[in-house]
Amino acid sequence: MQDQYLSSAFLKENQHDICSIKINIGSFFHNTAMKLLYILPLLCLVSCHASRARDWAHHGAPMFADLSVRELKSVRAYLHGIPEMGLTNARSPLLKKNSILLIELHLPRKHEALKALDHGHARPTRQARVIVQFGNQDKPNITEYIVGPLPSPTSHTVKTFKGNRPSQFDSRPITGVEYDHVINILKQITTTAHKLLFETTGGFSFTNCSDRCLTFSDIAPRGLDPGERRSWIMLQKFVEGYFIHPIGFEVLINHQDLDPENWTVEKVWYNSMYFDSVEELVEKYESGEVEKMKLPEHDDNDLYSTYIPRGRSNTPTDIHGPKLVEPQGHRYHVDRNFIEYAGWSFAYRVRSSAGLQIFDLRYNDERIAYEISLQEAIAFYAGDTPAAMQTKYIDAGWAMGTSTYELAVGIDCPEIATYVDLYHYYDTDKPVRQRNALCIFEMNTAIPLRRHFNSDFQGGYNFFGGLENNVLVMRTTSTVYNYDYIWDFLFYQNGVVEVKVSATGYIHATFFTPNGLHYGSKVYNYVLGNLHTHLIHYKVDLDIAGEY
Ligand SMILES: *[C@@H]1O[C@H](CO)[C@@H](O)[C@H](O)[C@H]1NC(C)=O
Ligand SMILES: *[C@@H]1O[C@H](CO)[C@@H](O)[C@H](O)[C@H]1NC(C)=O
Ligand SMILES: *[C@@H]1O[C@H](CO)[C@@H](O)[C@H](O)[C@H]1NC(C)=O
Repeated sequence: MQDQYLSSAFLKENQHDICSIKINIGSFFHNTAMKLLYILPLLCLVSCHASRARDWAHHGAPMFADLSVRELKSVRAYLHGIPEMGLTNARSPLLKKNSILLIELHLPRKHEALKALDHGHARPTRQARVIVQFGNQDKPNITEYIVGPLPSPTSHTVKTFKGNRPSQFDSRPITGVEYDHVINILKQITTTAHKLLFETTGGFSFTNCSDRCLTFSDIAPRGLDPGERRSWIMLQKFVEGYFIHPIGFEVLINHQDLDPENWTVEKVWYNSMYFDSVEELVEKYESGEVEKMKLPEHDDNDLYSTYIPRGRSNTPTDIHGPKLVEPQGHRYHVDRNFIEYAGWSFAYRVRSSAGLQIFDLRYNDERIAYEISLQEAIAFYAGDTPAAMQTKYIDAGWAMGTSTYELAVGIDCPEIATYVDLYHYYDTDKPVRQRNALCIFEMNTAIPLRRHFNSDFQGGYNFFGGLENNVLVMRTTSTVYNYDYIWDFLFYQNGVVEVKVSATGYIHATFFTPNGLHYGSKVYNYVLGNLHTHLIHYKVDLDIAGEY
């Protein structure tokens, strides 16, 4: 009777359920079943261990999933419900206020996560990491909280850092509201300097313009000493690709005060000379003490900074180029943030501050990395203008993980890709959805992974062996203002995982001065492409042959 039950169960159940049967029978079957049980463990040793590992990996993946819309909203509601915090909307125009800057997942500790991943234990409760700016108090500060448990938070604790060092309030990222105030002060500055700007650019102005407008770029860091908050801002022609149209006017604005009425202009740079105020520049410009600079006439038909293809192509553009096809559908499997392909499985997230990250990366059910995660991208510049020489972009501080804008089907990723929406909560009052911001696809690299033509040296061959190189790709992008990073993880059939970053978009460019040739190359008649270095930082926590 029992034997019969056992064997029919054995046949009925698929492989990954065999393990649980084994555990159950061990406890209540009597001796007649034992003969069979000797065999079962042997069968299970390989396949059950593997399938159990697969189930635990699947079970653990939600620990790494980004916060859902519901979770983001409940964290906001919870914190806004605490009277002492006095939180107001992030998008309200005041700077002197308390508001949430960012909400994102707070990862569980590794040793707790491993209990779920390696032993199938319950997952630790989900928590959020929240950055709050307290601007509306005598000593403004910026504080990070861990809020939990999700999805219905009941508590928050202050997150401290090594050495208990507080984050500098003055080093906080600049918000949309602060930019609105920057625009206001630029309106005053450019109104004072209207004639100079108009003459220099041949008809461009910051205000009251229609097709001859100016815009601006601000650079970071916003100071040279801790506690400073003053930014060099350069004016540019507001045309397609304005990043590479600096007009040679830069201004240093001190925007430290939370009352924008108190912001000041500390320096102005024009024609390679420094001035203490806009008024001083204008006065000297009018009196002839400053040489008047004049940009070459603006040519509306110049394709220089546009994305319009130029040059002649001998390839017909009215018929399709090569395309990827999956005649019988996807060969990978996506379940929310858990992905399986060939021998691979992993969980992923797109951290709002930093970007694409993977966790519990397994090959043939064996973990080879607990975490491979993008953490930071930095770009250091050289230059001759004050904005150029001070530029050091530290992009997590510009929330590069949130600038994962929609991917263009067929350009950013193949048509056959799986597209996933992302949600971020940064400088906002409600979660922001980015449609199709992440893609997953299998592709062929069009070069064999390995091959051998075994010649018989008589004009024939003994055998040929080769392997198509198919890989799984997971991709997001970050458009950090002028440039676009394309972030890829690639998973090969042979156990190789590759991280890859491609940089495109526009260069960070500044106004050309002859001395600038020491710091870059002339890329246009009045523009210098500045020498720079990109540093990309990943955290790589390998767990090959055990935990480290
Ligand atoms: C920052 O401000 C908050 C809200 O007033 C306060 O609770 C916290 O103690 C302050 N933190 C520091 C380090 O002063
Ligand atoms: C722009 O127009 C407004 C309203 O007509 C005017 O008050 C302002 O002075 C103009 N600004 C400039 C720079 O001409
Ligand atoms: C900022 O401006 C306000 C009023 O305009 C003034 O009362 C205050 O003293 C100013 N603060 C500083 C630091 O200048």
